[in-house]
Amino acid sequence: MDPHLVVPPPPPAVGKHVRGPPVPGLRLLLLRQHLRGALRAARPVPGRAAAPPRPRAGNGGAAGTLCPGAAAAAAQAGQGGDGPHVLQALRERGCRSEEDFGAVLREIEAEVNRRKELIQQSVKRKAVISKCYKRKHPEVYTLQDSFLAPDFLEIVRYCTSPDARLHGLLRYLESFSDKRIYRLPVFTEEFCQAFVDELENFEQSDMPKGRPNTMNNYGVLLNELGMDETFITPLREKYLRPITALLYPDLGGACLDSHKAFVVKYSLHEDLDLSSHYDNAEVTLNVSLGKNFTEGNLYFGDFSQDPTPVPKYIEIEHVGAQGLLHRGGQIHGALPIASGERWNLIVWMRSSAIRNQLCPMCNKKPELVEAEGFGDGFTETLKDDVPGTVNLCALW
Ligand SMILES: [Fe+2]
Repeated sequence: MDPHLVVPPPPPAVGKHVRGPPVPGLRLLLLRQHLRGALRAARPVPGRAAAPPRPRAGNGGAAGTLCPGAAAAAAQAGQGGDGPHVLQALRERGCRSEEDFGAVLREIEAEVNRRKELIQQSVKRKAVISKCYKRKHPEVYTLQDSFLAPDFLEIVRYCTSPDARLHGLLRYLESFSDKRIYRLPVFTEEFCQAFVDELENFEQSDMPKGRPNTMNNYGVLLNELGMDETFITPLREKYLRPITALLYPDLGGACLDSHKAFVVKYSLHEDLDLSSHYDNAEVTLNVSLGKNFTEGNLYFGDFSQDPTPVPKYIEIEHVGAQGLLHRGGQIHGALPIASGERWNLIVWMRSSAIRNQLCPMCNKKPELVEAEGFGDGFTETLKDDVPGTVNLCALW
Protein backbone atom coordinates (compact mmCIF):
# COMPACT_ATOMS: atom_id res chain seq x y z
CA MET A 1 0.00 0.00 0.00
CA ASP A 2 0.99 3.58 -0.48
CA PRO A 3 2.89 4.39 2.73
CA HIS A 4 1.44 7.89 2.73
CA LEU A 5 -2.13 6.92 1.98
CA VAL A 6 -4.59 8.92 3.97
CA VAL A 7 -6.98 6.53 5.59
CA PRO A 8 -10.36 7.37 7.03
CA PRO A 9 -10.29 8.01 10.76
CA PRO A 10 -10.50 4.65 12.46
CA PRO A 11 -12.68 4.07 15.47
CA PRO A 12 -10.82 5.37 18.52
CA ALA A 13 -10.03 3.41 21.62
CA VAL A 14 -7.96 4.09 24.73
CA GLY A 15 -4.28 3.39 25.28
CA LYS A 16 -2.42 2.78 28.53
CA HIS A 17 -0.44 3.98 31.52
CA VAL A 18 2.48 2.76 33.62
CA ARG A 19 4.63 3.72 36.65
CA GLY A 20 8.07 5.17 37.51
CA PRO A 21 11.80 4.38 37.31
CA PRO A 22 14.31 3.46 40.01
CA VAL A 23 16.48 6.52 40.46
CA PRO A 24 18.90 6.55 43.40
CA GLY A 25 17.50 8.63 46.22
CA LEU A 26 14.12 8.78 44.59
CA ARG A 27 10.99 6.86 45.27
CA LEU A 28 8.92 5.14 42.64
CA LEU A 29 5.51 6.53 42.38
CA LEU A 30 2.23 6.06 40.66
CA LEU A 31 -0.03 8.72 39.41
CA ARG A 32 -3.42 8.84 40.98
CA GLN A 33 -4.72 11.06 38.27
CA HIS A 34 -4.00 8.37 35.74
CA LEU A 35 -7.10 6.55 36.50
CA ARG A 36 -9.06 9.65 35.92
CA GLY A 37 -7.17 10.23 32.69
CA ALA A 38 -7.75 6.74 31.46
CA LEU A 39 -11.37 6.90 32.32
CA ARG A 40 -11.78 9.78 29.97
CA ALA A 41 -13.44 7.79 27.25
CA ALA A 42 -16.71 7.14 28.96
CA ARG A 43 -18.51 4.13 27.63
CA PRO A 44 -21.94 5.00 26.36
CA VAL A 45 -24.82 3.71 28.39
CA PRO A 46 -26.60 0.94 26.47
CA GLY A 47 -29.73 2.07 24.76
CA ARG A 48 -28.72 5.72 24.74
CA ALA A 49 -27.42 7.85 21.92
CA ALA A 50 -23.66 8.14 22.26
CA ALA A 51 -21.30 10.94 21.29
CA PRO A 52 -18.62 10.03 18.73
CA PRO A 53 -15.81 8.10 20.37
CA ARG A 54 -12.48 9.81 21.04
CA PRO A 55 -8.98 8.44 20.74
CA ARG A 56 -8.03 6.67 23.89
CA ALA A 57 -5.09 7.39 26.13
CA GLY A 58 -2.02 5.21 25.85
CA ASN A 59 -2.24 2.19 28.01
CA GLY A 60 -5.43 0.80 26.71
CA GLY A 61 -8.67 1.11 28.48
CA ALA A 62 -10.56 -1.27 26.32
CA ALA A 63 -12.38 -2.58 29.32
CA GLY A 64 -14.91 0.23 29.33
CA THR A 65 -13.48 3.21 31.12
CA LEU A 66 -14.73 6.60 32.19
CA CYS A 67 -13.10 9.96 32.42
CA PRO A 68 -11.59 11.50 35.55
CA GLY A 69 -14.13 14.19 35.40
CA ALA A 70 -16.72 11.56 34.79
CA ALA A 71 -15.70 9.80 37.97
CA ALA A 72 -15.88 13.02 39.92
CA ALA A 73 -19.18 13.94 38.37
CA ALA A 74 -20.66 10.57 39.04
CA ALA A 75 -19.48 10.75 42.62
CA GLN A 76 -20.81 14.26 42.98
CA ALA A 77 -24.05 13.32 41.34
CA GLY A 78 -24.41 10.48 43.81
CA GLN A 79 -23.76 12.90 46.65
CA GLY A 80 -25.98 15.64 45.37
CA GLY A 81 -23.04 17.74 44.15
CA ASP A 82 -23.24 19.64 40.88
CA GLY A 83 -20.00 19.05 38.87
CA PRO A 84 -21.63 20.75 35.89
CA HIS A 85 -18.90 20.11 33.33
CA VAL A 86 -18.60 16.47 34.12
CA LEU A 87 -22.27 15.93 34.38
CA GLN A 88 -22.55 17.43 30.94
CA ALA A 89 -19.85 15.08 29.66
CA LEU A 90 -21.72 12.12 31.07
CA ARG A 91 -24.99 13.33 29.65
CA GLU A 92 -23.39 13.62 26.23
CA ARG A 93 -22.54 9.96 26.58
CA GLY A 94 -26.06 8.96 27.36
CA CYS A 95 -26.35 9.25 31.14
CA ARG A 96 -29.80 10.53 32.05
CA SER A 97 -31.22 8.91 35.12
CA GLU A 98 -29.95 8.28 38.63
CA GLU A 99 -29.60 4.64 37.57
CA ASP A 100 -27.35 5.67 34.70
CA PHE A 101 -25.05 7.64 36.97
CA GLY A 102 -25.10 4.83 39.51
CA ALA A 103 -24.06 2.37 36.82
CA VAL A 104 -21.15 4.62 35.86
CA LEU A 105 -20.04 4.85 39.46
CA ARG A 106 -20.12 1.08 39.91
CA GLU A 107 -18.15 0.64 36.73
CA ILE A 108 -15.50 3.05 37.99
CA GLU A 109 -15.24 1.29 41.32
CA ALA A 110 -14.88 -2.10 39.67
CA GLU A 111 -12.15 -0.78 37.38
CA VAL A 112 -10.30 0.87 40.27
CA ASN A 113 -10.35 -2.38 42.22
CA ARG A 114 -9.16 -4.34 39.21
CA ARG A 115 -6.23 -2.01 38.70
CA LYS A 116 -5.29 -2.00 42.36
CA GLU A 117 -4.73 -5.73 42.14
CA LEU A 118 -2.75 -5.74 38.92
CA ILE A 119 0.64 -4.99 40.45
CA GLN A 120 0.58 -7.74 43.02
CA GLN A 121 -0.73 -10.20 40.46
CA SER A 122 2.12 -9.30 38.15
CA VAL A 123 4.70 -9.72 40.93
CA LYS A 124 3.32 -13.17 41.70
CA ARG A 125 3.34 -14.22 38.05
CA LYS A 126 6.93 -13.06 37.65
CA ALA A 127 8.00 -15.09 40.68
CA VAL A 128 6.34 -18.24 39.37
CA ILE A 129 7.80 -17.77 35.89
CA SER A 130 11.26 -17.18 37.31
CA LYS A 131 11.06 -20.36 39.36
CA CYS A 132 9.26 -22.73 37.01
CA TYR A 133 9.53 -21.68 33.38
CA LYS A 134 11.98 -23.61 31.25
CA ARG A 135 13.45 -21.33 28.64
CA LYS A 136 13.83 -22.72 25.12
CA HIS A 137 16.30 -20.11 23.90
CA PRO A 138 18.03 -18.83 27.04
CA GLU A 139 20.45 -16.81 24.94
CA VAL A 140 17.77 -14.36 23.77
CA TYR A 141 17.29 -13.02 27.29
CA THR A 142 20.59 -11.15 27.34
CA LEU A 143 21.04 -8.47 24.70
CA GLN A 144 24.05 -8.95 22.45
CA ASP A 145 25.33 -6.88 19.56
CA SER A 146 24.89 -9.90 17.32
CA PHE A 147 21.09 -9.60 17.75
CA LEU A 148 21.15 -6.14 16.25
CA ALA A 149 21.09 -5.28 12.56
CA PRO A 150 24.46 -3.99 11.34
CA ASP A 151 22.75 -0.86 10.00
CA PHE A 152 21.26 -0.22 13.44
CA LEU A 153 24.68 -0.49 15.04
CA GLU A 154 25.97 1.97 12.44
CA ILE A 155 23.21 4.42 13.39
CA VAL A 156 24.11 4.08 17.08
CA ARG A 157 27.78 4.60 16.27
CA TYR A 158 26.92 7.81 14.45
CA CYS A 159 24.68 9.04 17.27
CA THR A 160 27.38 8.47 19.87
CA SER A 161 30.05 10.25 17.83
CA PRO A 162 31.02 13.79 18.81
CA ASP A 163 29.75 15.15 15.48
CA ALA A 164 26.29 13.64 15.74
CA ARG A 165 23.52 15.99 14.62
CA LEU A 166 19.86 15.54 13.78
CA HIS A 167 20.25 16.24 10.08
CA GLY A 168 23.06 13.69 9.90
CA LEU A 169 20.98 11.06 11.68
CA LEU A 170 18.04 11.60 9.32
CA ARG A 171 20.19 10.36 6.45
CA TYR A 172 20.07 6.91 8.06
CA LEU A 173 16.33 6.86 8.74
CA GLU A 174 13.13 6.75 6.75
CA SER A 175 10.95 9.69 7.78
CA PHE A 176 7.18 9.82 7.39
CA SER A 177 5.47 13.12 6.71
CA ASP A 178 5.93 15.79 9.34
CA LYS A 179 4.76 13.58 12.20
CA ARG A 180 8.25 12.75 13.46
CA ILE A 181 7.79 9.05 12.76
CA TYR A 182 10.91 7.19 11.71
CA ARG A 183 11.62 3.70 10.44
CA LEU A 184 14.95 2.03 11.09
CA PRO A 185 16.42 -1.46 11.06
CA VAL A 186 16.71 -2.89 14.58
CA PHE A 187 17.22 -6.66 14.83
CA THR A 188 18.53 -9.42 12.62
CA GLU A 189 16.04 -11.85 11.09
CA GLU A 190 17.71 -14.68 12.99
CA PHE A 191 17.16 -13.00 16.32
CA CYS A 192 13.51 -12.27 15.50
CA GLN A 193 12.90 -15.92 14.67
CA ALA A 194 14.53 -17.17 17.87
CA PHE A 195 12.73 -14.56 19.96
CA VAL A 196 9.30 -15.39 18.54
CA ASP A 197 10.05 -19.08 19.00
CA GLU A 198 10.82 -18.38 22.65
CA LEU A 199 7.64 -16.37 23.05
CA GLU A 200 5.59 -19.16 21.48
CA ASN A 201 7.21 -21.62 23.83
CA PHE A 202 6.14 -19.44 26.73
CA GLU A 203 2.68 -18.98 25.27
CA GLN A 204 2.21 -22.73 25.01
CA SER A 205 3.48 -23.35 28.52
CA ASP A 206 1.24 -23.55 31.56
CA MET A 207 2.87 -20.50 33.12
CA PRO A 208 0.61 -17.69 34.39
CA LYS A 209 0.17 -14.95 31.82
CA GLY A 210 -0.92 -11.34 32.06
CA ARG A 211 -2.37 -9.30 29.26
CA PRO A 212 0.15 -6.91 27.70
CA ASN A 213 -2.31 -4.07 28.27
CA THR A 214 -6.01 -3.39 28.26
CA MET A 215 -6.16 -3.11 24.49
CA ASN A 216 -4.19 -6.21 23.53
CA ASN A 217 -5.41 -9.59 24.70
CA TYR A 218 -2.55 -11.71 23.36
CA GLY A 219 1.12 -11.27 24.01
CA VAL A 220 3.73 -11.25 26.75
CA LEU A 221 4.80 -8.74 29.38
CA LEU A 222 8.58 -8.82 29.11
CA ASN A 223 9.25 -7.77 32.70
CA GLU A 224 7.35 -10.84 33.87
CA LEU A 225 9.47 -12.97 31.56
CA GLY A 226 12.60 -11.54 33.20
CA MET A 227 13.88 -9.54 30.23
CA ASP A 228 13.90 -6.02 31.67
CA GLU A 229 17.29 -5.93 33.33
CA THR A 230 19.24 -7.97 30.81
CA PHE A 231 17.63 -6.93 27.56
CA ILE A 232 15.26 -3.97 27.48
CA THR A 233 17.11 -1.65 29.86
CA PRO A 234 20.44 -1.96 28.01
CA LEU A 235 18.60 -1.64 24.69
CA ARG A 236 17.06 1.60 25.88
CA GLU A 237 20.11 3.05 27.60
CA LYS A 238 22.96 2.03 25.34
CA TYR A 239 21.38 1.90 21.90
CA LEU A 240 18.06 3.75 21.72
CA ARG A 241 18.74 6.77 23.91
CA PRO A 242 21.54 8.18 21.71
CA ILE A 243 19.05 8.08 18.82
CA THR A 244 16.08 9.51 20.70
CA ALA A 245 18.28 12.24 22.17
CA LEU A 246 18.63 13.66 18.66
CA LEU A 247 15.10 12.90 17.43
CA TYR A 248 13.05 13.93 20.47
CA PRO A 249 15.06 16.30 22.70
CA ASP A 250 11.85 18.14 23.60
CA LEU A 251 10.34 14.90 24.96
CA GLY A 252 13.29 13.99 27.14
CA GLY A 253 14.83 11.80 24.45
CA ALA A 254 18.23 12.14 26.14
CA CYS A 255 16.92 11.07 29.53
CA LEU A 256 14.44 8.28 28.92
CA ASP A 257 14.90 6.59 32.28
CA SER A 258 12.25 3.89 32.38
CA HIS A 259 10.05 1.81 30.15
CA LYS A 260 7.30 -0.70 29.82
CA ALA A 261 8.02 -3.40 27.25
CA PHE A 262 5.74 -6.08 25.90
CA VAL A 263 5.11 -8.19 22.84
CA VAL A 264 1.70 -8.22 21.21
CA LYS A 265 0.37 -10.92 18.95
CA TYR A 266 -2.22 -10.62 16.20
CA SER A 267 -3.76 -13.57 14.37
CA LEU A 268 -6.99 -14.41 12.58
CA HIS A 269 -8.59 -16.11 15.55
CA GLU A 270 -7.28 -13.72 18.19
CA ASP A 271 -6.73 -9.95 18.05
CA LEU A 272 -6.81 -8.78 14.43
CA ASP A 273 -6.14 -5.10 14.87
CA LEU A 274 -5.64 -2.30 17.38
CA SER A 275 -7.95 0.66 17.72
CA SER A 276 -6.83 4.26 17.59
CA HIS A 277 -5.06 5.36 20.77
CA TYR A 278 -1.96 7.07 22.15
CA ASP A 279 0.63 5.53 24.41
CA ASN A 280 1.61 6.24 27.98
CA ALA A 281 5.12 7.05 26.82
CA GLU A 282 7.21 9.96 25.71
CA VAL A 283 8.68 7.87 22.89
CA THR A 284 7.58 4.48 21.57
CA LEU A 285 9.58 1.88 19.66
CA ASN A 286 7.48 -0.66 17.77
CA VAL A 287 9.44 -3.47 16.08
CA SER A 288 7.88 -6.02 13.74
CA LEU A 289 9.21 -9.44 14.75
CA GLY A 290 7.28 -11.35 12.07
CA LYS A 291 5.99 -13.89 11.44
CA ASN A 292 4.36 -13.86 8.01
CA PHE A 293 1.23 -11.79 7.62
CA THR A 294 -0.59 -9.70 5.04
CA GLU A 295 -2.15 -6.25 5.46
CA GLY A 296 -2.10 -4.96 9.03
CA ASN A 297 -0.38 -1.63 8.36
CA LEU A 298 0.00 0.91 11.12
CA TYR A 299 -1.74 4.26 10.82
CA PHE A 300 -0.92 7.55 12.49
CA GLY A 301 -3.00 10.67 13.02
CA ASP A 302 -2.55 13.83 15.05
CA PHE A 303 -0.31 14.40 18.03
CA SER A 304 -2.71 14.10 20.95
CA GLN A 305 -1.56 17.39 22.46
CA ASP A 306 -2.08 19.21 19.18
CA PRO A 307 -5.28 17.95 17.57
CA THR A 308 -6.64 19.34 14.30
CA PRO A 309 -10.31 19.59 13.31
CA VAL A 310 -9.89 17.07 10.49
CA PRO A 311 -6.89 14.87 11.24
CA LYS A 312 -4.97 13.39 8.36
CA TYR A 313 -3.94 9.80 8.78
CA ILE A 314 -0.92 8.24 7.16
CA GLU A 315 -0.52 4.51 6.75
CA ILE A 316 2.85 2.89 7.21
CA GLU A 317 3.88 -0.64 6.41
CA HIS A 318 5.49 -2.52 9.24
CA VAL A 319 8.55 -4.27 7.85
CA GLY A 320 9.97 -7.40 9.46
CA ALA A 321 12.90 -6.84 11.88
CA GLN A 322 12.49 -3.07 11.47
CA GLY A 323 11.15 -0.64 13.99
CA LEU A 324 9.15 2.57 14.03
CA LEU A 325 10.02 5.32 16.45
CA HIS A 326 7.25 7.77 17.23
CA ARG A 327 6.08 10.13 19.94
CA GLY A 328 3.96 8.27 22.45
CA GLY A 329 1.32 10.94 22.10
CA GLN A 330 0.94 10.38 18.37
CA ILE A 331 -2.52 8.91 17.85
CA HIS A 332 -2.17 5.59 16.07
CA GLY A 333 -3.48 2.09 15.60
CA ALA A 334 -3.04 -1.09 13.59
CA LEU A 335 -5.26 -2.13 10.70
CA PRO A 336 -6.48 -5.74 10.63
CA ILE A 337 -4.22 -8.41 9.27
CA ALA A 338 -5.75 -10.43 6.41
CA SER A 339 -3.78 -13.62 6.96
CA GLY A 340 -0.95 -15.10 8.98
CA GLU A 341 0.34 -14.11 12.38
CA ARG A 342 2.03 -10.95 13.52
CA TRP A 343 4.24 -10.31 16.58
CA ASN A 344 5.39 -6.84 17.58
CA LEU A 345 7.81 -5.74 20.25
CA ILE A 346 6.61 -2.52 21.86
CA VAL A 347 8.82 -0.44 24.14
CA TRP A 348 7.18 2.53 25.83
CA MET A 349 9.99 4.80 26.97
CA ARG A 350 9.41 7.42 29.63
CA SER A 351 11.28 10.47 30.81
CA SER A 352 10.60 11.27 34.45
CA ALA A 353 12.01 14.77 33.89
CA ILE A 354 9.23 15.43 31.41
CA ARG A 355 6.28 13.63 32.94
CA ASN A 356 6.99 14.78 36.49
CA GLN A 357 6.09 18.24 35.22
CA LEU A 358 2.93 17.25 33.43
CA CYS A 359 1.25 13.88 33.18
CA PRO A 360 0.87 13.10 29.46
CA MET A 361 -2.32 11.17 30.13
CA CYS A 362 -4.32 13.74 32.06
CA ASN A 363 -2.34 16.92 31.30
CA LYS A 364 -2.09 17.81 34.96
CA LYS A 365 0.63 18.02 37.55
CA PRO A 366 0.91 14.43 38.74
CA GLU A 367 -0.31 13.33 42.13
CA LEU A 368 1.89 10.39 43.01
CA VAL A 369 1.74 7.30 45.13
CA GLU A 370 4.47 4.75 45.71
CA ALA A 371 4.84 1.78 43.41
CA GLU A 372 7.17 -1.10 42.66
CA GLY A 373 9.44 -1.37 39.64
CA PHE A 374 9.35 1.34 37.03
CA GLY A 375 5.82 2.29 37.91
CA ASP A 376 4.34 4.78 35.48
CA GLY A 377 7.71 6.44 34.99
CA PHE A 378 7.27 9.24 37.53
CA THR A 379 9.69 10.01 40.35
CA GLU A 380 9.60 12.08 43.49
CA THR A 381 12.21 12.90 46.10
CA LEU A 382 11.94 11.01 49.36
CA LYS A 383 9.81 12.56 52.03
CA ASP A 384 8.98 11.45 55.51
CA ASP A 385 5.28 11.52 54.88
CA VAL A 386 4.54 8.47 52.79
CA PRO A 387 1.36 8.94 50.79
CA GLY A 388 -1.44 6.86 52.20
CA THR A 389 -3.01 6.35 48.83
CA VAL A 390 -3.01 3.35 46.56
CA ASN A 391 -2.08 2.69 43.01
CA LEU A 392 -4.96 3.81 40.87
CA CYS A 393 -2.99 4.34 37.74
CA ALA A 394 -1.51 1.08 36.59
CA LEU A 395 -3.57 0.84 33.43
CA TRP A 396 -2.00 -2.27 31.96
FE1 LIG B 1 0.37 2.13 20.87
